[in-house]
Parts: sequence; structure tokens; C-alpha cells
Amino acid sequence: MSFLNPVTLFFLAAGALATVQDPKVAPRPPMGFNNWARFMCNLNETLFTTTADAMVEKGLLAAGYNNINLDDCWPLKERTAKKELQWDPKIFPHGMPWLADYLHKRGFNFGIYTNAGNMTCGLYPGSQDHEEIDAKTFEKWGVDYLKVDGCHMDLQKNRTYYEEFEYRYKLWHQVMGKLKKPFIFSQSAPAYFSPNFHLDLNNTDWYRTMEYVRENGELARHSDDIKVYGNNPENIFEPGGHWESMMNNYDKEVRLARYQSCGYYNDPDFLIVDWPDLSLDEKKTHFALWSSFSAPLILSAWIPDLMDDDVAYLTNKDIIAVDQDALCEQATLVSQTEAIDVLSKNLANGDRLLTVLNKGNATKTATVPLERLGIDPDVRYKAKDLWTGKTQSVGSSITIKLHKRQTAIYRVSAASGAKKLDVTPTGQIFNTFTMNCLTASSRSRVRFTVCDGSDEQVWRVSSAGRISPLSTDDRYLTADGRDVGLEKLDKDDKGQLWSYGVSGNVATKGGFVLEERTKGEVVVGKRGYALDSQVFALPGGVKLDK
Ligand SMILES: *[C@@H]1O[C@H](CO)[C@@H](O)[C@H](O)[C@H]1NC(C)=O
Ligand SMILES: *[C@@H]1O[C@H](CO)[C@@H](O)[C@H](O)[C@H]1NC(C)=O
Ligand SMILES: *[C@@H]1O[C@H](CO)[C@@H](O)[C@H](O)[C@H]1NC(C)=O
Ligand SMILES: *[C@@H]1O[C@H](CO)[C@@H](O)[C@H](O)[C@H]1NC(C)=O
Ligand SMILES: *[C@@H]1O[C@H](CO)[C@@H](O)[C@H](O)[C@H]1NC(C)=O
Repeated sequence: MSFLNPVTLFFLAAGALATVQDPKVAPRPPMGFNNWARFMCNLNETLFTTTADAMVEKGLLAAGYNNINLDDCWPLKERTAKKELQWDPKIFPHGMPWLADYLHKRGFNFGIYTNAGNMTCGLYPGSQDHEEIDAKTFEKWGVDYLKVDGCHMDLQKNRTYYEEFEYRYKLWHQVMGKLKKPFIFSQSAPAYFSPNFHLDLNNTDWYRTMEYVRENGELARHSDDIKVYGNNPENIFEPGGHWESMMNNYDKEVRLARYQSCGYYNDPDFLIVDWPDLSLDEKKTHFALWSSFSAPLILSAWIPDLMDDDVAYLTNKDIIAVDQDALCEQATLVSQTEAIDVLSKNLANGDRLLTVLNKGNATKTATVPLERLGIDPDVRYKAKDLWTGKTQSVGSSITIKLHKRQTAIYRVSAASGAKKLDVTPTGQIFNTFTMNCLTASSRSRVRFTVCDGSDEQVWRVSSAGRISPLSTDDRYLTADGRDVGLEKLDKDDKGQLWSYGVSGNVATKGGFVLEERTKGEVVVGKRGYALDSQVFALPGGVKLDK
């Protein structure tokens, strides 16, 4: 059948829902294993069976890591006469159905990899124009989870590069909707439009891609691959660049929180666990940040030889509970200085998460006023250190000493035992292209400037949509014509009521949107489509308009 008929597409779409509309395929972020970053094309059947056995033995399966996923380079270079993909029998002698069965019997899902373009990145056959037959083949083999990469896209029917991606990934969504049980669908599309790939361009196509992947599948890789263990045929370790790669993906993730809700997860790529150039603090930072994001936790490592220290942090129940929290919120930035990032989010039981990262190269002491978590600073709280399990009583602020590249992670709750904290979304408002922060530059003026962690850059967003800086008690972001400044509360002034949506636009009642002009000037302008000057990150918990 042809998938080009729009009537057919419409008909299929009706029965093919999952993701954010109906989060039943992956109600929480997936956890598991993938061979790519650690082994690249050096994969075979025993790698996966041995990994599965070790994951059972080390308690990783019991901790929730229940997907075992193959990446590129598993097939033969040719399809069968019936145009089906076939596994390479030299490296998978028992075949995929046997491997699926081996994994299922031990309690794992079986994940496999293909490519939306006409070849995989490793030059094996791609699925372009074979979407339906490949989905059926994978279903027949017992696949539960499918990663669809985006190399070698052949532009058809005069479609642009952007349009071909959108067309192919939506087609995959429809094809999967017709299966008996939809696969967990891991999409690589946004990575091909990210600032990593398009350094000289704008973010428009990246944002447009992010908007559809959340309605299309369960997770999406939004930026570069995490740097692999050794990019050489012998798979010999190559030191250097791994921390920077992790920070690169972290830096893209913080721009995208608005897209995530239960059923769809932003994917900053694998947790790299046994790379000898990463310190234990750096690896624990990786795990704590990804968990704060409620990101997928997919390990790439040689599991049988993991050290006890690594297994201990990877199975930390309190931190996994943050990752798997029922709200599925991605922590957002409260503040950023050169060395210290503070992040926070709501947790389903009414607690507040506090995550503090020292990106710097020296030990630092950070003090976080609890007001910055959007909670009443005049009340007493308890803060549970999720690394040690120890709980301390805290007043108006918390002071934390952090080694170089170390991350602290706390669960903050009311000392009184009250179940739910009263939270006003509070944190940075920043342009996700320039990364500049909205700043109260005086009592009446605002500008976009480099983020510096000051109270002038921490904003509260009320449920009515009033936005005020922590630096003054009585000033609100106000649009007056095209100008934007800070004014006293005026209940009748519609220019003080703002709304925010998945688009990233911050809009007035009159339909104009906040805009960063050159030199940091702040205005409201006519709404464009996913423009660099008009897309912002706001503190988590702000109610989203569609
Ligand atoms: C399977 O792959 C692993 C990882 O690359 C390698 O160490 C091992 O020797 C391979 N085993 C076989 C039987 O090829
Ligand atoms: C894949 O598409 C590219 C780009 O259009 C084309 O040059 C190439 O021949 C195609 N390869 C296959 C295997 O179809
Ligand atoms: C493809 O698009 C170009 C530019 O829009 C147009 O000039 C051309 O006629 C189109 N070709 C086909 C086959 O539709
Ligand atoms: C953004 O970049 C694309 C090229 O990818 C270009 O077509 C578009 O005009 C640019 N948009 C703006 C607003 O500059
Ligand atoms: C830490 O050190 C590295 C390499 O020496 C340097 O590139 C980086 O800018 C430093 N980071 C900070 C936050 O000072």
C-alpha cells in the first residue's frame, strides 16, 4: 500500500495514539542497556546474553533497568528476496527470536535499532520505504522497543530535509500503531536539527521537530551522541572529551523541559559508566542530573565488570524514585553561575527536588535560599540527602560544599509533616537560543543578560500568570504597547498577565509575545513560528497552554 495517500494517513492516525496523549506505552522514562557508546559495532549475541545475566546478578534488573537494546550493525548488508531485514548469523548464531526469548524469560524487554533513512549510520540497510515490512519483521522477532536513527535520508517527492524527517517519523508512528502491541519508540530526529548540527543556523527546525516527537513516540534524542568509549575498530579506550560531551547534552536538555510530560521523555543519551577518564563524582553527577530530568536511564557499559561503587550509585533507590516520579517533570534551572547550577522540580508526593551541580574545577560552597525553590522561606523544612539517606532540618537556606564536578541531590519536605508544599514556580527565564537570562536591571527596567545567579534573574510565576523578580517584592513584568518593563501590581492591567506554552512563547493576553532583541533589549512582538528571539525556558510547574 502507499502511505502517501492523505486519507489513509488520517485513518491510521485515529487508532495510533500513545505518547503524551495517552502515556500507556511508557508511563515512566525507560531504563536499561544499549551497547552503542561502549562497543559500537563490536556487538554479538554473547555480549547481550552475558549483559542480561550480569544485570540480573548485580541487581540492576531489580532496580528497574529492564530494556536490553541492540544498536547499529546487527543486520546483514542485504535484505532477503522478500525484502526483509535479516540478522547477521555470524554474530547472532541463534537468531533474534531466540535472543528475544532469552531476554523475555529473564524479565527484560528486547530493543532493536533501525534507521529512517535508506542506510544506517554504519551503512547497513535502512528502513526508508520499508517501514511497514520492517515493523512486521521486528514484531515477529519479539521486539518491544525500537530506536529509529536518522542517517542517510533520501529526499523524496520534492520534500525538504526537514519535511522528509517529519514525514518518516510520523509514518513510523502510524505503522507502529497498527501492531498488536506498540513498540517503545525512540526517535533520533531532533538530534539532526540540534544546535550541535546546525551551529551556523537557527533553532527553528529543532523546536518544530521537538513539537511533533512528543506526540509521536516515547523518547527522542535531542542532541549529539554521548562521546563513545573508543571510536576505533578494536574498541580501544580513547580518553578525553567525555565530561564535556555529557555537559553538552545537559546544556541542550535544560532548554527543552516544556516538551516533556508522562509518556514522552527528552533523551540526553546514554549513561556512560565504565569510562576510565571519568571520576566517580563525575559519573554520579551524570546519574543525578539525568534522574533529576526524569530522563531515560540507558546504561552503556561492560556490565559484568562494573565496580561495586558504580552498581551502588546506579541502584540508589531514592534517586531512581526521582527519575521515575509519577509527575515525570524535568527539573528546570533555578539559577546558573559560572560554576554552580541549581535545579528544582515538583515531586508527586508534594516534596520539592533540589539538585546542585558544581561544573567548576575547584571545590565550592553553594548557599541556596529556599525562597528560590518557590517555597515559603519562613517555614522549617527537612532536606533528605539522597546520596547518604541522611535528613537534616533546614531554615531559610541550605549550604552545600561540593567537590569539583560533584552534584548534591535533596528531597525537601515540610518539617511539620504536611503532605504537600505550597509551590510557586520559581527560577530563571532564559532564551533557549542565546542562553541569556531575563534580568531586572533596575526597579523599572528589564534586559536579557548573561546568567549570573543573582536575585534579579530569579522569577516567580503566579498561577494567574504574573511574573515578578525575587529582587523586588512589588514589581511585575508588564507589557505596555511594544515596551516591556517592571511596574507595580495593577489588577486591571492585562499587560501583567502572561501565558506560556509548548511553543516556548511567552504571550500577552493581546497575543503579542516576549522577544529578545539585539543587545538584550526586551519587547513584545508579533508571534512568529519558533523564532530564536521568541522561545524561552520558564521555571517548571508553570501551567502550559496548548
Ligand atoms: C562479543 O563482543 C564482545 C564485545 O565486543 C567481545 O569482547 C567478545 O569477544 C565477542 N564474542 C564473540 C564470541 O565474538
Ligand atoms: C540513499 O539515498 C541517497 C541520497 O539520495 C542516494 O544517493 C543513495 O543512492 C541511496 N542509497 C540506497 C541504498 O538506496
Ligand atoms: C520541486 O520544487 C521546486 C522548488 O519549489 C520546483 O521548482 C519544482 O517544480 C518541484 N518539482 C516537482 C517534481 O514537484
Ligand atoms: C532558519 O534557518 C533556516 C535554514 O535551516 C532558514 O530557511 C530560515 O529562513 C531561518 N529562519 C530565520 C528566521 O532566520
Ligand atoms: C575547567 O578546566 C577545563 C580544562 O582545564 C577548562 O576548559 C574549563 O573551562 C574549566 N571550567 C571552569 C568552569 O572553570
